[in-house]
Amino acid sequence: MALVTTKEMFAKALKSDYAVGAFNVNNMEIIQGIVEAAQLEKAPLILQVSAGARKYAKPAYLLKLVEAAILDTGLDIALHLDHGEDFEICRKCVDDGFTSVMIDGSKHPFEENIRITKEVVDYAHAHGVVVEAELGKLAGVEDDVKVDVRSATFTDPDEAAEFVERTGVDSLAIAIGTSHGAYKFKGDPYLDFERLKAIHSLIPDTPLVLHGASTVLREFVDKCNQYGGNIPGAQGVPEGMITEATKHGICKVNIDTDLRLALTAEVRKFLAESPAEFDPRKYLGPGRDAIKAMVQHKIRNVLNASGTM
Ligand code: G3H
Ligand code: 13P
Ligand code: ZN
Repeated sequence: MALVTTKEMFAKALKSDYAVGAFNVNNMEIIQGIVEAAQLEKAPLILQVSAGARKYAKPAYLLKLVEAAILDTGLDIALHLDHGEDFEICRKCVDDGFTSVMIDGSKHPFEENIRITKEVVDYAHAHGVVVEAELGKLAGVEDDVKVDVRSATFTDPDEAAEFVERTGVDSLAIAIGTSHGAYKFKGDPYLDFERLKAIHSLIPDTPLVLHGASTVLREFVDKCNQYGGNIPGAQGVPEGMITEATKHGICKVNIDTDLRLALTAEVRKFLAESPAEFDPRKYLGPGRDAIKAMVQHKIRNVLNASGTM
């Protein structure tokens, strides 16, 4: 039981048809819900921290909570920086003891993305830390999926191969049609599986990462709305598409929005039904249970990762 890098987990996942879940964490209840689920499912686990999470909870608290989770469960866990925007935040996380960092240079031109990614790879590797980079831009819901938009923003397979070769990065996040948040598609859901297969065939040894992979299950949106929420028009990626992606080189699947919805639905329900209660444990406890159930469902039914640890 330790903080581990993603090297071994990805090597195994790459050889099989499952992916490792990478779940965003912001507080104790979220961490506890996720690790209890991974423990029950005997699945590999990545906990990831965004810049926003670092700001909200402070790095020292998150680190200590993850260390506590390892002590409590006996799991091996990878601690990952999600969407590091520059060298400095990656360096801080490496120095803090993270085992994996993402440098997200996707907003930069190709050569600049290579330059900053390489800088992070050199520093991280010298400290035994692995690096995820991103090439291509995740779709926004406003982008629809017109062919010109796709070729302008989705990951180009040849560029992906050159990028990996020149940066020495350990894993690569690609853009094939997903986007962050609860509103992913204006029309029918569409992922570019031909592009994914082309990328995977050019760089078969590179673990690929799917961001924006929440499926935004109707049941949870409806529950939020039933108890006073107003989340109109939310639409995620169909579960079957995520499972299909795990068969073509996707080794890491990023999930945040679904956890937020599961927790919020439960908290809303509790407070609506028990308006006289004001003990945070009374509503955060069920929220934690909802996270646990959601993560178990993901690991077992969407990522096919049950029993792979
Ligand atoms: O990719 C974004 C993640 O969902 C993190 O979101 O920046 O609000 O923490 P956040
Ligand atoms: P979702 O918003 O689909 O959960 O994606 C999360 C993510 O990609 C974190 O990096
Ligand atoms: Zn992301």
